[in-house]
Amino acid sequence: MEENKKRVLSMLQPTGTFTLGNYFGAIKNFVALQDEYECVYAMADLHAITVRQEPAKLRENVLKSYALTLACGIDLNKSILFLQSQVPEHSQLAWILNCYTQFGELSRMTQFKDKSAKHADNVNAGLFTYPCLMAADILLYQADYVPVGEDQKQHLELTRNIAERFNGLYSPTFTVPEALIPKYGARIRSLQDPTSKMSKSDPNVNSFVSLLDDPDTVIRKFKRAVTDSEAVVRYAEGKDGINNLMGIYSCATGKTMEEIEKEFEGKGYGDFKLAVGEAVADTLKPIQAEYNKIITDKAYLEKCFAENAMKAEKIARKTVSKVMRKVGYIQMK
Ligand code: TYM
Repeated sequence: MEENKKRVLSMLQPTGTFTLGNYFGAIKNFVALQDEYECVYAMADLHAITVRQEPAKLRENVLKSYALTLACGIDLNKSILFLQSQVPEHSQLAWILNCYTQFGELSRMTQFKDKSAKHADNVNAGLFTYPCLMAADILLYQADYVPVGEDQKQHLELTRNIAERFNGLYSPTFTVPEALIPKYGARIRSLQDPTSKMSKSDPNVNSFVSLLDDPDTVIRKFKRAVTDSEAVVRYAEGKDGINNLMGIYSCATGKTMEEIEKEFEGKGYGDFKLAVGEAVADTLKPIQAEYNKIITDKAYLEKCFAENAMKAEKIARKTVSKVMRKVGYIQMK
C-alpha cells in the first residue's frame, strides 16, 4: 500500500446478508474508493453482540457477510477486509475512549434510543457505549474518510468530537475523520413504510430487498412497494415512496432525477415499479454469481481472515502504542 494515499475506513454489521440500503448507502462506495484511497474495511462483529446472538448463527453470518462484501467488488489486492474481533486493539482503544466520552453525549445518540426501545429487555452497557467502539474503529486507522449512510452521521460527529478532545488534551494523536455520504443512496427507505429506513431487522420481509433475493422476489417486492395516489413519477416533497424508488433507480442506473421523470412521463406507477425492480435485479445478478462461488470455499475465506487481520493489526498497533504513551501507561519492554 502506498504511504501517501489518504485512508478510508468503514465497517458493516455482519447480518448474514445486506440490504439494498447497505449496498447503495455504503458498500457501493467502498468499492468505488478502492483505487484512489488506501481502504480498510471490516465486519463489525464486536458491535453485533450488543443484541443477543446465537453463537453458531453469528459464525455463519460473519462468514456470509464477508463473502458477500467480497462479491460486491472488494479487491484484496487493493483493500484490507478483516474481522473486527480478530484485531484486539479495537477493544483496547474503545475502553480508553470510553473514558473521554460523556454520559450525556452517549444519551443523545438516536440509534441508542431506537435500539433500547426495540430491545427493552436487554439495554446493556455495550449498546450504550457502542459509539465509543465505533470511534475506536475509525481512529485506530487514522482514517481521513468514512463512507457511511445517513444514519451513521451522528456517530461520526461524536467520533470527531472525541478525536478533537483527545488531541486537545494531549497533542495531535488522531486524524479527525470526515463522513462520505452519497447524494441519493444515503437513506434508502422501507418499501412498505417510506418514512422509515430500509432495515433487515424489519419483521415485514417485503419492506427490504436483500442482496441475495432472486430476481422474481426483487420484482415482486417492488411491485408491492407503497407509493401515492398521484400517479406521476416526479421527485417532490410529500412523495416519500416515489422519491425512494427514484433514488433506488438512480443508484442502480446512474440516471438523474430529471432523466427518470422524462423516461416515465405519461406512464403509470406499474411500469415504473417494474423498471426499478428489473434494474435492481440486474445490479444484483453478478454479485450473487460471485457470492455463490466464494461462499463454498471456506479455506479461502479463512486464509483471507488471517492475512487481513494481520495487515489491519499492524496499523492499529501503532495507534494504540501512541495513545498509551500519551495517556501515561508504562509500556512493556
Ligand atoms: P450497519 O451495519 O447498520 O450498516 C452498514 C452501512 O450501511 C448503511 N445503511 C444504509 N444506508 C442507506 N440506507 C439504508 N437504509 C441503510 N441502512 C444501513 C449504514 O449507514 C452503514 O454505513 N455502526 C455501524 C457499523 C460500524 C461502522 C464502524 C461504520 C461499526 N464501526 C466504523 C463506519 C465506521 C452500523 O451499525 O452499520
